[in-house]
Amino acid sequence: MKKIKLGILISDRGSNMQALMKACQDYSFPAEMACVISNNNKAAGLKVAEQAGMPTFIVKNKPLDVDKIHEILVQYKVNLVCLAGFMRILKADFLSKWHGKVINIHPSLLPSFKGLNAQEQALKAGVKITGCTVHYVTPEVDSGTIIAQAAVPVLPNDTIHSLSERILTEEHKCYVKAVKLIAILSKN
Ligand code: GRF
Repeated sequence: MKKIKLGILISDRGSNMQALMKACQDYSFPAEMACVISNNNKAAGLKVAEQAGMPTFIVKNKPLDVDKIHEILVQYKVNLVCLAGFMRILKADFLSKWHGKVINIHPSLLPSFKGLNAQEQALKAGVKITGCTVHYVTPEVDSGTIIAQAAVPVLPNDTIHSLSERILTEEHKCYVKAVKLIAILSKN
């Protein structure tokens, strides 16, 4: 089976990256990991990726070295770029080179609660249901076409931490589902 190649961009913990890595270990999963890139040399996820034998790269953060990111993605023949807790905004010139090939996971049911601290925004708004969204990345933050979503209840005594943990569990499943969907559709 021909698999699509994933390039993962992380800035820190990398639990969504790990969920994708785990999914890719299944021979029947239609995608494989090609490389992991981070703008933060202290990102915990980098170590995890290295230990798993993944090609990992650190790119300059200020200003973000998008040319280097592009070069690595091309070198590893990446078909789909997955932002997984990547805390920098990718500008239009990079996105136009990777049009329709960059996706992101966000911890809310978009279009609600765009931007930072989405879980806190949901708590403050008093919603009873929130969740996560995998979407295509466009120059306007958290606004591209939605690929997959999962709903998560907000419970009466939730803190930002407890709600974030509950959402994160769903993020891991939702990201894997979205990548699988894109990979299968790309074959047709
Ligand atoms: C996740 O909540 C994701 O939705 C958001 O940043 C967090 C990254 O977590 N974009 P991790 O690095 O994947 O553990």
